[in-house]
Amino acid sequence: MSVTPDDEGFMAAAIRLSRRHLGRTATNPSVGCVIVKDGVVVGQAVTALGGRPHAEPQALAEAGDLARGATAYVTLEPCSHHGKTPPCAEALIACGVARVVISVTDPDPRVSGRGISMLREAGIAVDAGVLEAEGRRSLAAYLTRQTKNRPYVTLKLAVSADGMIGRQGEGQVAITGPEARAEVQTLRAETDAILVGIGTAISDDPLLTVRTPGLEAQSPIRIVLDPLLSLPLTSKLVATARDVPVILVASEEISPLGSEEGSPPSVLPGISPARGEIGKRRDPNFQGSGSPFATEDVGQGATSQPISPPVGEMPGRAEGGASSVDATDADARRVALEAAGVEIVYCNPYHPEVLLPALATRGISSLLIEGGAKTAKLFLEAGLLDRIQLYQAPVVIGEGGIESPVQATDIPSGFTHMGTQLFGVDRLDEYEREN
Ligand SMILES: NC(=O)c1ccc[n+]([C@@H]2O[C@H](COP(=O)([O-])OP(=O)(O)OC[C@H]3O[C@@H](n4cnc5c(N)ncnc54)[C@H](OP(=O)(O)O)[C@@H]3O)[C@@H](O)[C@H]2O)c1
Repeated sequence: MSVTPDDEGFMAAAIRLSRRHLGRTATNPSVGCVIVKDGVVVGQAVTALGGRPHAEPQALAEAGDLARGATAYVTLEPCSHHGKTPPCAEALIACGVARVVISVTDPDPRVSGRGISMLREAGIAVDAGVLEAEGRRSLAAYLTRQTKNRPYVTLKLAVSADGMIGRQGEGQVAITGPEARAEVQTLRAETDAILVGIGTAISDDPLLTVRTPGLEAQSPIRIVLDPLLSLPLTSKLVATARDVPVILVASEEISPLGSEEGSPPSVLPGISPARGEIGKRRDPNFQGSGSPFATEDVGQGATSQPISPPVGEMPGRAEGGASSVDATDADARRVALEAAGVEIVYCNPYHPEVLLPALATRGISSLLIEGGAKTAKLFLEAGLLDRIQLYQAPVVIGEGGIESPVQATDIPSGFTHMGTQLFGVDRLDEYEREN
């Protein structure tokens, strides 16, 4: 059967639906399903929060008997394997659906093509690849983790009219207005984890949470590249680490194991294996200890110890720039940070090609880099960005400005300009890498 404009219209509705739970179904993708009988929508659903139930059985339940002879529009190939839920392809067959229209084929080796075969073998007409580009965008985090073994990485920067992202030594400088900032909150809520460099963590003292009313529980896991455990204990990140997870990526050189054994451990033993769940805490009032990503013993035995001053507050030591490491000092900071609920993993923070797969192994499918300049440059140079969101504001920073590592005029090759949106007086340009 050939694909009609109506098919595209219903698939567009399914894709819109799927976006509702972006970042809230890990480690499953957020899939949309619309069931149509005689041109009328009789059932529709998105993957439930937490990833189960899948979209198809919910939409079929809503359609009831009307599913018989209907067409199901699904953004991702229906699953064919018995996981924690029965196969969705079986449910579609059992309900007597006559036709299934799919946007994207599932790269998961347990499914890939098998869902479609099961449906066809049961006599159901299947059309795949409908609005595939749009479908792939809505599933980008899931597809990237499946096919590249790393999260989908977005760099977001706010750039002034004179090409700056901040001012040296001044902490947070307001560049964009409230409309743009509200939009960034939405982006955070759709993302599994957010990452900044220690320079930004110290100078800006950011919270990096979602404060949009109703979405507070959707704050991403907060990750700081912090080679020497310089994050001040008085920082907002540490103060809120028991409410929203904070992970510090520290250098192997200061790992307790590395210093004892003479050879630094790799990151992977320091990171717990995937648990099938990522660490967004659904309950904003959550007061438990330790991160859901923690290895079994992280935080345990972390008692109150005398706290040494954070590096950023120590005399004679540049923020994030110390060249030698005092093992005792690092150990005291480690103990104090862990006692505050911060998780520490040991891995060269400046090797994203090692860090990203480790994050993917832990169920993180989407990562938002929010600066600063050096951290953005690190990911740009490593070629590990999938999307760049550049907010350009009319504000002028002038003297003492920190230059943006990327401008609209020097977007790296391989990126396509996807569009421009206006938020108040600010302009957002979005670029995506061609896969
Ligand atoms: N407008 C925006 O969108 C935005 C967003 C976030 C932050 N900011 C601004 O950015 C500024 C901070 O930027 P930043 O570049 O100083 O800090 P950063 O990227 O947040 O942190 C980088 C820190 O890591 C260290 N580092 C060492 N080797 C590195 C490597 N290979 N790659 C990356 N980092 C490495 C740096 O130490 P060394 O200094 O010793 O090299 C530096 O202290 C702040 O003023 C903040 O307000 C702006």
